[in-house]
Amino acid sequence: MKVLAVFGTRPEAIKMCPLIKELHNCEKIELITCLTGQHDEMVQQVLKIFNICVDYNLKIMKENQTLILLTIHVLEKFDGILEKEKPDIILVHGDTTSAMACAMAGFYRKIPVGHVEAGLRTYNIYSPYPEEFNRQMIDIISGFYFAPTKESADNLLREGKNKDDIYITGNTVIDALKTTVNLEYKSSYDEWKGNSKLLLLTMHRRENIGKPMQDVFRAVKRIIREYSDVKVIYPVHLNPNVRKIAYQELGKEKNILLTEPVNPLEFHNLINMSYLVLTDSGGIQEEAPALGKPVLVLRNTTERMEGVLAGTLKLIGTDTDNVYCEIIRLLEDKNEYEHMSKSKNPYGDGKASKRILDVLLNI
Ligand code: UD1
Ligand code: UDP
Repeated sequence: MKVLAVFGTRPEAIKMCPLIKELHNCEKIELITCLTGQHDEMVQQVLKIFNICVDYNLKIMKENQTLILLTIHVLEKFDGILEKEKPDIILVHGDTTSAMACAMAGFYRKIPVGHVEAGLRTYNIYSPYPEEFNRQMIDIISGFYFAPTKESADNLLREGKNKDDIYITGNTVIDALKTTVNLEYKSSYDEWKGNSKLLLLTMHRRENIGKPMQDVFRAVKRIIREYSDVKVIYPVHLNPNVRKIAYQELGKEKNILLTEPVNPLEFHNLINMSYLVLTDSGGIQEEAPALGKPVLVLRNTTERMEGVLAGTLKLIGTDTDNVYCEIIRLLEDKNEYEHMSKSKNPYGDGKASKRILDVLLNI
């Protein structure tokens, strides 16, 4: 069976690398890998850590790219790969524009699509934007749904998808964490952290660029000025619009370290050494609960309700006063902290890639 695995951005790369390794080691699978290049440096960092070389890199990234041009370039270039390789199945991941456009290209050529991390939903088409649209669109096209949890499988069933096409596999991000997190890991930031409580911050969602980001950063500044034992580390996404606000608002604060994006080995171990995580990221909402770290989610909706139900994620939005109060609660209220940091991992046992391989071998 000829499998074409495609991905475009950092989170897809982190979650597809364990699966690519699993497929690569199976003699019955002829594996072709394709990077759309929606992200450049941020994906290369990941491929280096997981030691993976792709067969094709479509190199489409442009500075400040628009959703329209991104979609057009992926469709056009990926179709060329389909024409040449004629795979039996295409594997896409998650909810990015790369995943959506590659699934669409597969549909136009009537090639079956397998969706890794299928079934996540907020049912608010503008939140997250454009990801909720992307994932619903991919699930209209897909023939194989690799749902990470029962909740995501239930969403697909409620939408009328055929139950025989849905497989609950766990999330491949847990497979990745098993290879990166190590208590013996020596982080480059150990010394800078010292004995302080480390808050790990990331923010990059399109709908948060502008005032929401500014509001959150102001809350973080207040905390740093009031708590001398707290430090914040923020690996800033390479989106120029994000960088502008981050450096304007936080660039001069003594106990806030803005860094370039760090590789996933460093990042996963940073989560592990942090006190709490502040983020609007999707993937980090899965990683931090798996490592028993409370997450204050800087969004009003989430497709990762499993983590909220487990008590490790809390949706707090972006209002300055609210973000400030919620951070203080976790700094001051021991019971609340204990409750949220109880290690619960709703996202699987680290064998998701193997389960996906088994399904493919049975097709
Ligand atoms: C994309 C995904 C989002 C995902 C995020 C993960 C879409 C529409 N969005 O959003 O779902 O959560 O990736 O990070 O698919 N850039 C670089 N170098 C890089 C990567 C990005 O310079 O390696 C800059 C470029 O100027 C680029 C901009 O960041 O134009 C935005 O990248 P883009 O992929 O369009 O959006 P993200 O916000 O990264
Ligand atoms: N990550 C990383 N380096 C960083 C920041 C994040 O390796 O500097 C990893 C993180 O561990 C997670 C993924 O990137 O696996 C999340 O990516 P991002 O937040 O960009 O996208 P999302 O998950 O929101 O789509």
